[in-house]
Amino acid sequence: MADPAAQLICDADVLRDGGNGVRFEIQHHGETAAAFVIRHGGVVYGYLNRCRHVPVELDWQEGRFFDGDGDYLICSMHGALYLPDNGYCVAGPCRGQSLQSLAVAEREGRIYYLPQADGA
Ligand code: FES
Repeated sequence: MADPAAQLICDADVLRDGGNGVRFEIQHHGETAAAFVIRHGGVVYGYLNRCRHVPVELDWQEGRFFDGDGDYLICSMHGALYLPDNGYCVAGPCRGQSLQSLAVAEREGRIYYLPQADGA
């Protein structure tokens, strides 16, 4: 891993398309914040675990970020639906807003958070 600041999150095979995500923590504007990674269309995406409606974590049950069909990320509080590949909210009280995306990478069978790549 060339980036010394990269933060190991999990093994890559833990994340399956539309399956459970993995939570991790980051330093965000000087504070510890909850984040998560999921896999969609074979690609891994990372977001701050904070709904854009009310700043609560999305997963009521740990790691359950997808809706029943595995098509959207869903907030367990009021059901906002977010596109998995860019975090854009397509339905719900915060429609038109987006989750804070984070720079993550899949390398050599592992998933990393790249704090210096997204400035979070
Ligand atoms: S807190 Fe997420 S939809 Fe209301």
